[in-house]
Amino acid sequence: MTLQDNHAAGAVVAARVERKWAMVSVAVIVLLAGMAAFAGIHQATMPQARVETADPTTLHIAGEFVESNLGSALEPDGSVTVRAVAQQYSFTPQCLLVPAETPITFRASSADVVHGFLIQGTNINTMLVPGYVSAIPIRFDKPGDHLMPCHEFCGIGHEGMWANVKVIDKAAFLAMTSAHRRLTCVE
Ligand code: CUA
Repeated sequence: MTLQDNHAAGAVVAARVERKWAMVSVAVIVLLAGMAAFAGIHQATMPQARVETADPTTLHIAGEFVESNLGSALEPDGSVTVRAVAQQYSFTPQCLLVPAETPITFRASSADVVHGFLIQGTNINTMLVPGYVSAIPIRFDKPGDHLMPCHEFCGIGHEGMWANVKVIDKAAFLAMTSAHRRLTCVE
């Protein structure tokens, strides 16, 4: 076998290996495209997520988010619903009071632009979009204080927009509900 024959044989092997790997990469692309198509079609056949709306122009005047209805409310089933409104550049109420070891649902909306809703030390992290209600369930295991900064740029005063969440003992919270229909920790 001459050196040239050897070279030609090597080229044949190289071409075969390259073809094989080209087919593998084509197969990977076809598989991924197929998965993307399946996921898209599958999702399109699912029902829409539940969407609740709230008119941002009348948020303070009518409906669920009037000022007298904001704060924490004890529900007949023992759970607590906390309602809040975000506006440039504050949250109302400024301090949310909730009991520990209790199922809690935060319900909030925005009166103007998109704001962020994040409670530090928890997995609550969403956006408040004008026109829509954001509802998030949570349960706090123990009393404590959490910061609630707006984490969505909402204008010149964004960096100063934050509230507090104060988690207190469940018995203490329940004792307060007899005197107040809506609870907050705003002084
Ligand atoms: Cu509100 Cu940033």
